Amino acid sequence: MAVAERQRPRRSCLAVPGSSQKMIDKARGLPADQVFLDLEDACAPLAKPDARKTIVAALNEGGWGDKTRVVRVNDLTTEWTYRDVVEVVEGAGANLDCIMLPKVQTAEQVAWLDLTLTQIEKTMGYEVGRIGIEAQIENARGLVNVDAIAEASPRVETIIFGPADFMASINMKSLVVGEQPPGYDVGDAYHYILMRILMAARANDLQAIDGPYLQIRDVDGFRRVAGRAAALGFDGKWVLHPGQLDACNETFSPKQEDYDHAENILDAYEYFTSEAGGKRGAAMLGDEMIDEASRKMALVIANKGRAAGMRRTDRWTPPED
Ligand code: GLV
Ligand code: MG
Repeated sequence: MAVAERQRPRRSCLAVPGSSQKMIDKARGLPADQVFLDLEDACAPLAKPDARKTIVAALNEGGWGDKTRVVRVNDLTTEWTYRDVVEVVEGAGANLDCIMLPKVQTAEQVAWLDLTLTQIEKTMGYEVGRIGIEAQIENARGLVNVDAIAEASPRVETIIFGPADFMASINMKSLVVGEQPPGYDVGDAYHYILMRILMAARANDLQAIDGPYLQIRDVDGFRRVAGRAAALGFDGKWVLHPGQLDACNETFSPKQEDYDHAENILDAYEYFTSEAGGKRGAAMLGDEMIDEASRKMALVIANKGRAAGMRRTDRWTPPED
């Protein structure tokens, strides 16, 4: 499958503990683009074996609509990873879109997951290569290897930033809630991490996803932090609580007027470059000069709007002469 075809909607990626039947059932009806059932940090060690079974049953039961269905397994420094992958994918591989691998540190770890998935797909008679990989970057080693991680397998669909573990791993004062520690400006460093991940993702046609905002009652704070990631070009963000969902979907969707304008640029540019439009490479749309780069920028916004199910409310038409 071409990489571009793998770009599923991921504005909001809802975290759901795999050990909680109640939260899993609630998640089915929530307007998240992606749901990930967690076997890692939101699942206590003693609860992990049962959670694998709960997750398999929940995926096979269905009712997930168009949501991207993901399971986060434990990282490869633990003893749990291989059993997580084998049990979940053997049990529910036909009803699962991606495996999320947290705390990825090297390309070899992604290659291990790729090979293991292929083994299971062959054994079970599933389509080989259908299940994607989401690679979560949560420590310095992962970040310095992020380019190799991004290109380690054609299954990789997204690079995800895990701010809580990342800040802990590099001893940075916590920016998990997106605030500056008093008297100390670490904003540039934070942007460096986000941009590093974004470049690795974009260089490989992957999506870039921002991690959680832990102050779940502070929706304004969520909007602020999500808005920063969206402004940089990130495709979506984690949601830890249903109260963050609307803000998340809104932040990562274009505004109606921007969506309309993007679609109009695409139409106008197609017309102006055509025979009827004078085969022009640069033309005026209202007060704005548009060219091939404008088309590319417009396409990004139009694609986001289309993926979010937006409709045009204003339509450009060619000049009559
Ligand atoms: C998410 O896993 C994080 O560590 O922020
Ligand atoms: Mg983490």
